[in-house]
Amino acid sequence: MSPPSIPRTPWSGAEGAEAKVEAIEFLGLPAVRKVRPAKTYRPADLDLRLRTGRLRTEVRLLREARRAGVRTPIVLDVDESELVLVLERLPGTPLTEHLSAPEVPAEERERLVGLWGELLGRLHQAGLSHGDLTASNVLWDGHRLSLLDLSLGSKDPSLEERGIDLHLVEEDLNTLTPDAPRLFRVFVDCYARAYRSSPEVLERVREIRGRIRYA
Ligand SMILES: Nc1ncnc2c1ncn2[C@@H]1O[C@H](COP(=O)(O)OP(=O)(O)OP(=O)(O)O)[C@@H](O)[C@H]1O
Ligand SMILES: [Mg+2]
Repeated sequence: MSPPSIPRTPWSGAEGAEAKVEAIEFLGLPAVRKVRPAKTYRPADLDLRLRTGRLRTEVRLLREARRAGVRTPIVLDVDESELVLVLERLPGTPLTEHLSAPEVPAEERERLVGLWGELLGRLHQAGLSHGDLTASNVLWDGHRLSLLDLSLGSKDPSLEERGIDLHLVEEDLNTLTPDAPRLFRVFVDCYARAYRSSPEVLERVREIRGRIRYA
């Protein structure tokens, strides 16, 4: 079943917290150019170190996730001196829109959240974490999900880092839909099916929740 289409203007770019992303063509292919402009509120040397580190992490993890069967954009070009990445432009729109749009039926939302959980399970099973797993970093093209923006992820992540990935999903669902508690249970079920060591991570998620509640 194809999802109801969500009306939107053609995507031409976005300005997030750290990066500026614009749609371009690269060697005739649809691509995006992702630049991390300098942040003047940080000391210049620290800022450069942070931006370079994030760019390198993003390149490495995009490739590794892809190799593990999690769809991410192909890295087409890297310019470390200008802190520019050129990535394959993937089809689809951020999951945020599908989860918060009232015209999307509840079963469809549930199906998408299940796929999202399975995606994170596969990522964790491959020994990678995401670090900023909100619905705006996941694209849905009507058939498949893709994962974006891995610049805060880790290779061989700690239990805490894995727990934080799930915790961020839970928090994000809370901002997107009143149906969040039920949807998070669907997410967890599908995550657990795709990741062998999920019980330890779920225990850590409960701990993180408690820590935040009583902080
Ligand atoms: N490869 C891509 N294909 C299609 N759309 C993309 C792609 N990369 C980014 N986008 C779009 O641009 C938005 C912002 O991109 P991204 O999440 O990578 O940047 P960001 O959140 O500003 O960056 P960061 O958190 O790394 O500083 C995404 O939510 C998505 O809509
Ligand atoms: Mg993002």
